[in-house]
Amino acid sequence: MQANTWNLQIAVKRLKTMTAKAEMEFAVEVEVLGRVRHKNLLGLRGFYAGGDERLIVYDYMPNHSLLSHLHGQFATDCLLDWPKRISIAIGAAEGLAYLHHEANPHIIHRDIKASNVLLDTEFQAKVADFGFAKLIPEGVSHLTTRVKGTLGYLAPEYAMWGKVSGSCDVYSYGILLLEIVSAKKPIEKLPGGVKRDIIQWVTPYVQKGNFNHIVDERLKGHFDLEQLISVIMVAMRCIDSSPEKRPSMLEVVEWLKGGIGKRKKDIPPSLSYKTDDEKYEGNFDDFKTMQSRLKIPSHHDKLKIR
Ligand SMILES: Nc1ncnc2c1ncn2[C@@H]1O[C@H](COP(=O)(O)OP(=O)(O)OP(=O)(O)O)[C@@H](O)[C@H]1O
Ligand SMILES: [Mg+2]
Repeated sequence: MQANTWNLQIAVKRLKTMTAKAEMEFAVEVEVLGRVRHKNLLGLRGFYAGGDERLIVYDYMPNHSLLSHLHGQFATDCLLDWPKRISIAIGAAEGLAYLHHEANPHIIHRDIKASNVLLDTEFQAKVADFGFAKLIPEGVSHLTTRVKGTLGYLAPEYAMWGKVSGSCDVYSYGILLLEIVSAKKPIEKLPGGVKRDIIQWVTPYVQKGNFNHIVDERLKGHFDLEQLISVIMVAMRCIDSSPEKRPSMLEVVEWLKGGIGKRKKDIPPSLSYKTDDEKYEGNFDDFKTMQSRLKIPSHHDKLKIR
């Protein structure tokens, strides 16, 4: 629902049915949103819990969700040009980095996906929907829980064993990055009913260095190839099947801003890709050639994506 009073636009979420599960998600969402404040997280305006009524009031996001622009009602208009996509990618990463590293206690979102990234008037990203979030007590690295979230975005260790850590969000964010640049869905149904995930789709192009084939055709070639390569390289790091090899969201923000943003930045060698060779040897035969061609850092280099 959208309300407009004295020029203030708000969005209201109302629980349709009062199940224990829905009530729990309501409580988690209010608890988490009440604790956080960041330019890339959806703002909470208030809530109501009385009788059988549960309402949450948010800032209204006039440009709806990333999903509606990539695959939904605004997809044909192609309002998301390349600079907007880059700024949304960086903004969503900053929102997540805040949750993982600055919020106290740290927060894991557990449902990062295109429909949960909303866009304000300036197309600034606002991470939303905290009903599945987990507050992580000090000193705890991971928890084991019932699996929630959305197919196509779930990290393998979480989908299989319910092992949840910040790295699960990093994995989902990696899938989201690929989706932002390619406008492919995380899981696509091919003719004949066969399902293909975005990693299966993107891997051959990355192996061959065919980056032009990855980018959304609707951009009609209006994108920066070096930036595209940087984003894809960051995404490939995020979707590593081993959680411990994935970067932190702080590293992701630094890499994206360092390689892409105005503020060029060297990342210290301590954050270098020390597990990269191991990781890609198995999966991508010619990664090393590509790595040197694309100037993706190895152990010996300083990380400077661009
Ligand atoms: N603050 C907001 N401003 C504008 N639109 C919003 C806002 N919050 C949610 N929406 C939109 O309302 C719709 C419903 O959101 P909701 O979070 O309930 O479902 P969803 O994100 O589509 O799916 P899921 O339940 O899996 O998260 C979505 O299209 C979402 O983009
Ligand atoms: Mg949602």
